[in-house]
Amino acid sequence: MASRQIILKLAQQVVLTMVNIKSYLTLNTQLKNQLNELNLNILGSDIQDKLTSLSEKDSILALIAYATDGTPLGFKIGFAEPENPTSFYSWAGGVTSCARGQGIASLLMEAQHKKLKELGFKQVTTKCREDRKAMIELNKKFGFVLKETYQSQSSPKYKKHLFCKELT
Ligand SMILES: CC(C)(COP(=O)(O)OP(=O)(O)OC[C@H]1O[C@@H](n2cnc3c(N)ncnc32)[C@H](O)[C@@H]1OP(=O)(O)O)[C@@H](O)C(=O)NCCC(=O)NCCS
Repeated sequence: MASRQIILKLAQQVVLTMVNIKSYLTLNTQLKNQLNELNLNILGSDIQDKLTSLSEKDSILALIAYATDGTPLGFKIGFAEPENPTSFYSWAGGVTSCARGQGIASLLMEAQHKKLKELGFKQVTTKCREDRKAMIELNKKFGFVLKETYQSQSSPKYKKHLFCKELT
């Protein structure tokens, strides 16, 4: 490995020791606000109403990555699929632009899958717009298999990919 790559890898490891991942099975007002702020910042859409309806479900899992000073850097949130309760739908997630490329999404993904297994889930599914290349690569890196590509109803300009992973 070239010395520049070794330095970058070491720097990444130092950053990751300063990131704290917390998981939540219920959402209070503060958490809903943090998740909405993150989604607004990362994906540009307000999800407050959706979070409110989700917080009324009993089977959600939200994870937030915090810097040592408590600043939220990234998140992941999803819920059990109503028609298949052992399957978890990972609905939304991302990392703030200044914190990307340091392994934070990977930490969130690992923590999510570990927690889902503890909770008894057998499978995780997720959908991703075809132009979100980084997220597509991240999903593939973590063993998601592309199941279907279809026209997005919410953004007619785009197709969406449906990914699935067995939690073994
Ligand atoms: C996708 C995203 C969460 C990745 O966050 P991150 O913390 O930078 O990711 P990591 O550093 O953990 O990278 C893990 C893997 O993701 C993939 N990846 C990350 N950034 C990438 C990029 N710019 N291009 C291609 N692949 C990328 C790579 O496979 C990478 O593994 P590698 O470092 O071994 O190459 C982040 O770019 C993001 O928030 N994007 C916008 C939000 C989004 O698209 N959300 C999904 C909506 S469906």
